[in-house]
Amino acid sequence: MESKSILLGIETSCDETAAALVRLAAPDGPAEILADVVLSQFAAHAPYAGVVPEIAARAHVEAVDTVIAAAMREAGIGFADLSGVAATAGPGLIGGVLVGLLTGKAIALARGLPLLAINHLEAHALSPRLAAHAPFPYLLLLASGGHCQFLAVEGVGRARRLGSTIDDAAGEAFDKAAKVLGLGFPGGPALELAAQSGDPGAFALPRPLLGRPGCDFSFAGLKTALARAAQMEPLTHQRQADLAASFQAAVSDVVLDRTANAMAAFEARGGGAAPLLVAAGGVAANGVLRAGLSQFAAQRGYDFVVPPKRYCTDNAAMVALVGAERLQLGLIDGLDAPARPRWPLDSEAAAAHPTHVPGRKGAKA
Ligand code: KG4
Ligand code: ZN
Repeated sequence: MESKSILLGIETSCDETAAALVRLAAPDGPAEILADVVLSQFAAHAPYAGVVPEIAARAHVEAVDTVIAAAMREAGIGFADLSGVAATAGPGLIGGVLVGLLTGKAIALARGLPLLAINHLEAHALSPRLAAHAPFPYLLLLASGGHCQFLAVEGVGRARRLGSTIDDAAGEAFDKAAKVLGLGFPGGPALELAAQSGDPGAFALPRPLLGRPGCDFSFAGLKTALARAAQMEPLTHQRQADLAASFQAAVSDVVLDRTANAMAAFEARGGGAAPLLVAAGGVAANGVLRAGLSQFAAQRGYDFVVPPKRYCTDNAAMVALVGAERLQLGLIDGLDAPARPRWPLDSEAAAAHPTHVPGRKGAKA
């Protein structure tokens, strides 16, 4: 059983080429991360202040073998020790997804191993389980560069979308705000750093949808307001910091307001005896947001779990974990599993309330 639950995970859906090895001793049990290698392409995309799909796909092709070999070496195991191969099959930039998925298929075919074709959003959704006990069901805020939504996560392969952004994703808003402020790429961490020396009350930026029913998000108006404010006067260092801090405070206020309504929707679905709020995705790496959510959850009687920062942004450990959980449940995919640029986690909700999420990674959910 021990050696039969080691999964190789491969992640190539955006601008990180990543491979990891995760051992899951029992279904729903604690995960052991044997290796976790992430190669970021930041430098290749920085001149364009955003991810260029063709550059990303080429970089994945060049790096994927080396990254997998490095992870195997780090874990000290060979292909014979694996019980399955999990690769992100979407949603994401199709060129990159194809590289990782085809590599996973080739290994699975050559070694006679089961293939697990993983939804990148499910990988984020289950990522808190990499480092903490996070039993189902839980209320998930998934905020990344391509997505911003609340989900009731009720089990492996079972997530219900409660609300979603009607325009930009949260990470996309951070990236665009950072670009307007001349803070570089990737924008989220750069903006957070700049905000540390700024006054969050310096600019009264709008809080879209604040106080409205439901738990959808909107960030387009905030982004435009920030761009206007940035153009009013020359961008001194202090002004840049104040705008960054004011923007971050506005996002945080909106997220907490929406979380209150998401909690009500989660509870209406049965919630959980000891309700649990979980945050995941790259934006969940933001310190102000983590602190705000943690405090808010405590006020509302929720436990709160957020992965360590390195498991918030894209990584392959979360892909391997979902692979291990799915393998334990017998949810194996065929070698004909398609690469999918769009792949909503909750296809019923996505069909009933389609949302268009434009941006650096295109419409995906
Ligand atoms: O989950 P992720 O690595 O990739 C996607 O699946 O989208 O998320 C990347 C996004 C980027 O938009 C990045 O700017 C944002 O997460 N991000 C942050 C922070 N770190 C990463 N946003 C705000 N604060 C951060 N510290
Ligand atoms: Zn992601």
